[in-house]
Order: sequence, then C-alpha cells, then structure tokens
Amino acid sequence: MLNNQHIDVIKSTIPLLESAGPALTEHFYKRMFTHNPELKDIFNMTHQKTGRQSVALFEAIAAYAKHIENLAALSSAVERIAHKHTSFNIQAEHYQIVGMHLIETLRELAPDAFTQEVEEAWTEAYLFLAQIFINREDELYTLREQAIGGWKGARPFVVVSKTAESEAVTSFVLKPKDGGKVVAFVPGQYIGVKVKPTLSENIEIRQYSLSDSPNGETYRISVKKDSADNGHAGLVSHYLHQEVFVGDTIEVMPPAGDFFYVEKQAPVVLISAGVGCTPMQGMLNHLSETNKPQAVTYLHACDNANQHSFVEETQSLLTRNDWNQHVWYREGEDQQCEVTGHVGMMTLNSLANELPLQTGNFYICGPIGFMKSIVEQLTSLGVMTERIHYEVFGPHASL
Ligand code: HEM
Repeated sequence: MLNNQHIDVIKSTIPLLESAGPALTEHFYKRMFTHNPELKDIFNMTHQKTGRQSVALFEAIAAYAKHIENLAALSSAVERIAHKHTSFNIQAEHYQIVGMHLIETLRELAPDAFTQEVEEAWTEAYLFLAQIFINREDELYTLREQAIGGWKGARPFVVVSKTAESEAVTSFVLKPKDGGKVVAFVPGQYIGVKVKPTLSENIEIRQYSLSDSPNGETYRISVKKDSADNGHAGLVSHYLHQEVFVGDTIEVMPPAGDFFYVEKQAPVVLISAGVGCTPMQGMLNHLSETNKPQAVTYLHACDNANQHSFVEETQSLLTRNDWNQHVWYREGEDQQCEVTGHVGMMTLNSLANELPLQTGNFYICGPIGFMKSIVEQLTSLGVMTERIHYEVFGPHASL
C-alpha cells in the first residue's frame, strides 16, 4: 500500500521522468521486446517503428506521478486505457512483465537517482496502478463474457460480406464461425481484430469501430486502407483489403470502448472527418431504428467524392427520418460536394442557426487536428463542454 513517504518520493522523481522521456521509452520497449518477444504479438509494431505509440505509456506513468494524491483526476483516462487493453486481451501477468521492465529501465538509465528508496516507492506505486487496471479490466471481461452472445479473448469469425464503401474504405460483415450469437455493443464502440498478415512476422491486433447498429448476429467494421505512414504502409488494413475475402476467418475480441452514444432525449449532431464516419454510421443506424424523436444532424468532411463513404446508406437514413446533413470536400471547386456544395475545411459559423447549440449533444470523430478545430468552433459558439463527446482515432493524444 502507498504511504506518505512513497508519495513524496514519487513526486520527487517527476522531473527525472519528464527530462528522460523519449530515452526512457525507447530503452523500455527495446528491453521488453528483447526479453519478452512474445509481446510483439500484442503491441502494434508499426507504431513502435514510427514512434507514434511509444510515448503513451510513459506519459500515462508521468501523469500518474503528478496526480498521485488525486487519482480521481485520472479516472476517465483509466477507463479509456482499460477498454483499449481489453481489446488486446491483456492479462494480469502482462502487468508483471511491463512493471519489471519499467523498474529495470529506470535503474539502467538513471543509476544515481534510482536509490533503494526510489525503487521501493515506484515498485509500490506501479503495483497500485496496475491493480486499478487489472480490476477494471476484469470487470469488463466478465461483463462481456456473461452477456448473451458473449465471450472472452479471441473468437473465430467468418467474413460473410465485403463491400467497398468508397475508394479507400471497405466494409466487412463478420459472423461467428461457431454459429452462436454476438454480444451487444453501444454504437461508437470498437472490436479488436486479430490477424497474421502475410507480410508480418507477428500476429497483429487492431481496433475498428463497429459501423452498423447491434443486431445480435453479426458485426460490421469498415476499414480504411491506410496510406504510407513514415514509410510504413498500413500493414493490417492492406492485408484486409487485399487478402481477406468472403468465407475467410479472422479472430475478434469482444466490443470495447468508452466513446459511445448516450440517449439524452435531446437533439444530436454527429460530426466526422474521413474514416471517422464509421462510428457515426453505427449511431445513425441506431438512431433510425429507435425512431429518435428529436432532430439529428450529420456533418461530414472528406477529401473528395471518391473518398466519400456510405453515400447511399446515409442518404436513405436521412430521407427516411427527415434529418439534415452537410458534407464538405476538402479538395477544390471542381470536386464540390453534390449533397450540400461545401468546399474546403468544415466551418460551423454559417450553420449556427441550424445547429442545436444550447440543447444538443455533439459527437465528433476524426483526426486530431480536425477534432481540435471542431471542439474550438463549438465552444466559441457557446456549446458547453459536457455536451461535446469525441473519439481520437489512432494513438490517443489530448486535445
Ligand atoms: C500500469 C501500466 C500501464 C499503463 C499506464 C498503460 C498505458 C497505456 C496507454 C496510455 C495507452 C494508450 C491508450 C490509447 O491510445 O487510448 C496504452 C495502450 C496500450 N497498452 Fe498499455 N498501459 C499499461 C500496461 C500495459 C500492459 C501490461 C500491456 C501488455 C503487455 C499493455 C499493452 C498496451 C497496448 C498493446 C496498447 C495499444 C497501443 C500499441 O499497440 O502500442 N499496456 N497503454
């Protein structure tokens, strides 16, 4: 258990953690993958190569040290991370491995500062944090396992349909190979997909939002074929697009995610950019099926007509329910969107009279720069932050 002395020591090491940040992270992952290569089948090794993900764990540890006396401030981050971890099927024994490499990294990189007192305090503090995650993840695993259609870990699913939604996005409908039902989810959540791409030495796990409403029988995911990312083309998305066909089997972890639609008996505005439309498609389908009586508005931005996904499906949902939409094409006049004719970046000022700024709930999903801009625009139009909900695709970064 953490005592006051531990807390003082932890606080005194914050400058060390912050100053050594990138070096610590690099050393930690190198060390961990050398001693425990089996973890390469869990971590996204492309993120390791591009350096995109590696900072997240140490940033979270540094945030923990900073808030060690007020852990309640971390509860939403803990919830987000715990959901993410369950989609990788992370187990209690993994925490021992990560903890050991964290401590050894500190010892190896800062031998003078890493006194016995510091070691004791950090060992206790890490165990304490790990137990918070283990407990919450256990709860999530049990909930998913015990629900109708539920399961734990990886379950084989057959691809029953594969449909191009636009130039870069393709949907896959997945049905359990064992013929059983699937556990319900809340629109906005994702599943973990576990595959072994031909070009990869490792098993790869990726998260994809569920792009349809729950039906108890199948899941639909819609995957964007990722372009090169610092020279590393989307390994899994390319594999799914090019090598996985109807009849093939892939493994799936149960739904997870702390970004989801909550019914508040109020108008709703769904805002997305690019492949951020996938959770919105799940929400739109759900709102239509539940005959939402309040207004629904859909705002979407993408590069051009070729990148515009779910055009017909969205149009038919909007027409059926008499909902409004606006679509922006980023690329030039000649690519003007037929639906509403907006070009360039999404701007909300001109729509202020149409949007339920005082009463609505706003759900946003897309790249970080887009979401930052939309959150700023909404706040400056007077929308209260508690009515703005967002999901960052890819490694989490704070807005
Ligand atoms: C107290 C210990 C831990 C902390 C503070 C922590 C923190 C984090 C954070 C902040 C993220 C990013 C979440 C997001 O993108 O929304 C993350 C993702 C992830 N964590 Fe943890 N984690 C811990 C333990 C573990 C363990 C024990 C494992 C498994 C061995 C693990 C595996 C992963 C994986 C695979 C991801 C996804 C990112 C990637 O593939 O690189 N974590 N974790």
